[in-house]
Amino acid sequence: AHQWRGVVPEYAERLPMLAGAPVVTLREGGTPLIPAARLSEIVGARVHVKYEGLNPTGSFKDRGMTTAMSVAAANGARAVICASTGNTSASAAAYATKAGMTCAVLVPEGKIAMGKLSQAVAHGATLLQVDGNFDHCLDVARKMAEAYPVELVNSVNPARIEGQKTAAFEVVDAIGDAPDIHCLPVGNAGNITAYWKGYGEYATETPGVGGTLPAVATQRPQMWGFQAAGSAPIVLGHPVDEPDTIATAIRIGKPASWEQAEAARDESGGRIESVTDEEILAAHRLLSAEEGIFVEPASASSVAGLLKAHAAGEVPSGALVVCTVTGHGLKDPQWALRQADGSEVEPVRVPAEAFAVAQALGLEG
Ligand code: F0G
Repeated sequence: AHQWRGVVPEYAERLPMLAGAPVVTLREGGTPLIPAARLSEIVGARVHVKYEGLNPTGSFKDRGMTTAMSVAAANGARAVICASTGNTSASAAAYATKAGMTCAVLVPEGKIAMGKLSQAVAHGATLLQVDGNFDHCLDVARKMAEAYPVELVNSVNPARIEGQKTAAFEVVDAIGDAPDIHCLPVGNAGNITAYWKGYGEYATETPGVGGTLPAVATQRPQMWGFQAAGSAPIVLGHPVDEPDTIATAIRIGKPASWEQAEAARDESGGRIESVTDEEILAAHRLLSAEEGIFVEPASASSVAGLLKAHAAGEVPSGALVVCTVTGHGLKDPQWALRQADGSEVEPVRVPAEAFAVAQALGLEG
């Protein structure tokens, strides 16, 4: 019997930091890379979607949480802490449970999707709602980790980046080489940093566990990152004090990995741009209704950005493009019930009779 073992066992030779550590895993990673026919047709390129919502807690954070929690366990940690817009807290809570550790999460006041909040509570984390936004939460979490015996599991923890770089490995392993363009949402900017590291390691000879590892890919992609317009510090070139967007996962005004994100952009000849909430919701609808892929709004910003670049004539014809969609639609399902004109979908009510159902379906006059 074979099953995917989780990112640490699958990529052990490329994760020297984890050598010898007990592995805390829920068998994350191994997510599908889905060819997107409709998107490909629209933008005139070969587009694939990396569906990270299919990780154990429903987001890409699990890739970095298995590594961060394994290193924490190896260090003898008993407690972890994180700041979060929701997904990190859900993931930290689940992996802390698996590791037998306690978990404290700091979330911004309001603005946390119900699914994510429920996960953190279900897994027994101590959830503190901080009077401030994500950036304030991260400041406090860092100070807590400095002053108390708790391990910080935000993406400023290098083990998080190590785990998350495996998503780039999976993309190359699935298509045989790196794509030409990789689109992804940018919030705290850990993930764009991690993908760029992963693509870099796969495109060069790299020291690994047990010797030098050969290059696997012949190229690295252009990294195209997209922030929400109301929370676009990297695009604007200055922090945003009061970030705002319906894509609450990326409602961040002062990304911790700002410089690394700019490096990924510049070294790859890529871009970091912004997309409006309307563009995000349109991409969210397209993914659901035309590709069969249900994501949370923040995740759709990668696709929104690709569509916007296409509208500006900036997607090379026939290019191989991968869009990461970072979190599952069930995290924050309310947006699916909102239609393009802003109205809410109301279910059509029918009596429990086949004829009435046939009428409602237009099968009977
Ligand atoms: N997409 C989703 C669904 C996210 O939850 C996040 C970040 C991002 C994209 C952006 O990734 O921060 O690495 O640039 N969520 C963090 C959290 C901030 O607390 O769950 P990033």
